[in-house]
Amino acid sequence: MQLSSVIASPKLLLQFFISTIQCVFASFSFKVFYWKTGTCKGANSPVDSVAADGKDQSKDQLATTPTSVNYHFTRKCNYKCGFCFHTAKTSFVLPLEEAKRGLKLLQESGMEKINFSGGEPFLHDKGDFLGKLVQYCKQDLQLPSVSIVSNGSMIREKWFQKYGDYLDILAISCDSFDESTNQLIGRAQGRKSHLDNLFKIRNWCQQYKVAFKINSVINTFNIDEDMTESITELNPVRWKVFQCLLIDGENAGETALREAEKFVISEQLFQEFLDRHSSVSCLVPESNEKMRNSYLILDEYMRFLDCREGRKDPSKSILDVGVREAICFSGFDEKMFLKRGGKYVWTKADMKLEW
Ligand SMILES: C[S@@+](CC[C@H](N)C(=O)[O-])C[C@H]1O[C@@H](n2cnc3c(N)ncnc32)[C@H](O)[C@@H]1O
Ligand code: SF4
Repeated sequence: MQLSSVIASPKLLLQFFISTIQCVFASFSFKVFYWKTGTCKGANSPVDSVAADGKDQSKDQLATTPTSVNYHFTRKCNYKCGFCFHTAKTSFVLPLEEAKRGLKLLQESGMEKINFSGGEPFLHDKGDFLGKLVQYCKQDLQLPSVSIVSNGSMIREKWFQKYGDYLDILAISCDSFDESTNQLIGRAQGRKSHLDNLFKIRNWCQQYKVAFKINSVINTFNIDEDMTESITELNPVRWKVFQCLLIDGENAGETALREAEKFVISEQLFQEFLDRHSSVSCLVPESNEKMRNSYLILDEYMRFLDCREGRKDPSKSILDVGVREAICFSGFDEKMFLKRGGKYVWTKADMKLEW
């Protein structure tokens, strides 16, 4: 439409005015629609993100890709850590083939790292269920990183012989190098030594070429400890140090199976613990703020758990609705995931370790 002819004719002028308003309105409503649905719509869908405004597509796509997933396939455990935030609310475990199907869906959606956790992951089927999933993820799905977090009490050398090749990282949780403190926390099975297991597993990791990691929860019982010497001796690739976290319905509130309030420490005390261990170069600190929403957590039904409200709100299962729909309800904060160093060298072959 020529501008001169528009100005000359009042009818054309009116038409031009109406179409301009329509155009502005359409562009505005599209932006509002994208703003409301963009992050999830963009998930794993380059087509959707390109159609948006051509600017934030890669960012939106990244924000909802399940790059690193924690699958808590069982809630059962043989320990009784008083602060535990993933408790035995059910005894359900998926059939092996269903668990594999879910892991394949995640891999097809961009998963690069899987971490198996619990409950105690070595408890179910004496560690064979876990071993089969570890092997499947490395051999069939070819995931760059396969890891486990365990209390270490149920691991046998035979497991390493059978499945060690398929595992990149094994993290063992240890909150104290004083056996009586572990007993007080509940990080023990009966009178058995947690520390003997820890050192034994560290040696197996070296022998079977698995990267060894340690997780510690800092709480009122171990806050004054100096762990520098023991950690230096064990020499893990990473030492994750968590500030004890409360989750409603897990370790806090009326319906919870644990009462962790008496374990909770302030930000300042947590910082003092970190300062005391500043010479330990592999230490990776995780305050409550860093920890809460920076993990993609899948429960025993393969539902994402959203911790934004201070409890674990489940999505629908990825087995029923797929990853793309379920992940919208994960509450995952990708920025915090990156800020806490969630993405690191996680393939054992890339770690340049001396075995
Ligand atoms: C829930 S456990 C499951 C795996 C295994 N049973 C273990 O203890 O390592 C996973 C990790 O969460 C940590 N954890 C448990 N309760 C916590 C809490 N309240 N705050 C911070 N970390 C916690 C454990 O120490 C462990 O490193
Ligand atoms: S933190 Fe303790 S009680 Fe909780 S799952 Fe791990 S070993 Fe079991």
